[in-house]
Amino acid sequence: MATVAKKTKSLWFCSHCGNEYSKWMGRCPACGEWNTMVEKEVVTGKRPAAVSVPGSGRKPQPLTEVSTSVEDRISLGSAEVDRLLGGGIVQGSLVLMGGEPGIGKSTLSLQLPLHRPELKTLYVTGEESVKQVKMRADRLGGDASNCFIYSETDMTSILEEAQEVAPDLMIVDSVQTMYCPSVESTAGSVSQIKEVAATLLRFAKESGIPVILIGHITKEGSIAGPKILEHIVDVVLQFEGENRGAYRVLRSIKNRFGSTAELAVFEMTGTGLREVANPSEMLIPMHEEGLSGTAICAMLDGNRPFLFEVQALVSSAVYGTAQRSATGFDVRRLNMLLAVLERRAGFKLGQKDVFLNMAGGLRITDPACDLAVICAVLSSNFDYSIPANVCFAGEVGLSGEIRPVSQAERRAVEAARLGFKRIFVSSYTHFDRKREGIEIVKVADIPALVRALFK
Ligand code: TYD
Ligand code: MG
Repeated sequence: MATVAKKTKSLWFCSHCGNEYSKWMGRCPACGEWNTMVEKEVVTGKRPAAVSVPGSGRKPQPLTEVSTSVEDRISLGSAEVDRLLGGGIVQGSLVLMGGEPGIGKSTLSLQLPLHRPELKTLYVTGEESVKQVKMRADRLGGDASNCFIYSETDMTSILEEAQEVAPDLMIVDSVQTMYCPSVESTAGSVSQIKEVAATLLRFAKESGIPVILIGHITKEGSIAGPKILEHIVDVVLQFEGENRGAYRVLRSIKNRFGSTAELAVFEMTGTGLREVANPSEMLIPMHEEGLSGTAICAMLDGNRPFLFEVQALVSSAVYGTAQRSATGFDVRRLNMLLAVLERRAGFKLGQKDVFLNMAGGLRITDPACDLAVICAVLSSNFDYSIPANVCFAGEVGLSGEIRPVSQAERRAVEAARLGFKRIFVSSYTHFDRKREGIEIVKVADIPALVRALFK
């Protein structure tokens, strides 16, 4: 008898990050969460074949014979998104759009084809019904005549339909809801996510159809999903922003066809996302002129530059001994910086309480923050407000010298993009070329900084 014996076995999945294990564990080794294991029966035995993409008949060819014409790019109709991608989406590329739930991934990816009806688009949704997508599309406006909606989660059917429709652009919302029947685990698990992405990458490369893949990132960090995909896909765009605010930052954190020092700012309105061409409008409401004790730091978070506010309050000590407190910053480092200010620049802060706070509840370890900390402290001490369009990136040494920081150029680019007019850096900082739109002020030590800033 030639029947395939179907067996079942138990696997354990972490309900937090989706990793799978052959036995129960109290703590998930991947994400570190406790008590998140759930048992699941899976069918073993003969597996269906992997989702196949029809062969292209390609053969290895000498590199010298490869034509070097520029990649074929398609405009997505949004100047900001096109710029982030390096001048439009490259044909046959797989773009991952990540972000927390509710930040606007589905909105943006539906809005793009609606405002560019020249592109035949296939929008595959595994999260919403066709009706829900229709309602959203009505709200967003635009021309829906060339936009096809398909509610499906099985990758085999999706690729079949994609070949049938032959769109100019395919959007898959989201990687966590899709599954390949060839992989045993449930949709959203690490192995499924990888397989779905790999299948879409093959599809994009073989068919030449660009694919935008949406992926959720959890609040705690990007564990189950986009992070593990970053090396598979061609481009990673990441949505950031506070859900309560209307502004959203879309950042390119990986781009095989362009620069990653780019970001675009959007505003969530009643009719979708609006491009904010001048992002400094995002920062201005937070900086009323005449506010002393604040300084903006251009910092790097991992590999990504961003700007945030350092706040300091300096007041005469009322309880005899001066208090020093820091939120989001190492208090020992604060004490060191205060000692440098006292010994190397003659500022008497020994009898002052100093409170330091990093805006937005951030925890900062980047030494480039030193300069902004010193400026915020001096600004509060002298009740002198630093102009709102100035920012800082420099490390302070024990002798009061200002040291260069990594990737100063990218910080300057980010600051210029956000509308800043001046950035203070170490005089030892090397820039490849002159930066347009932002003045680079090089300072060697604290006295030079004070002369340049508080003159
Ligand atoms: P959504 O795009 O579904 O987020 P994601 O796909 O990243 O999970 O929704 C983003 C939020 O934006 C949602 O809470 C509703 C809101 N929204 C608007 O304010 N205006 C709009 O026009 C739309 C479509 C959504
Ligand atoms: Mg969505």
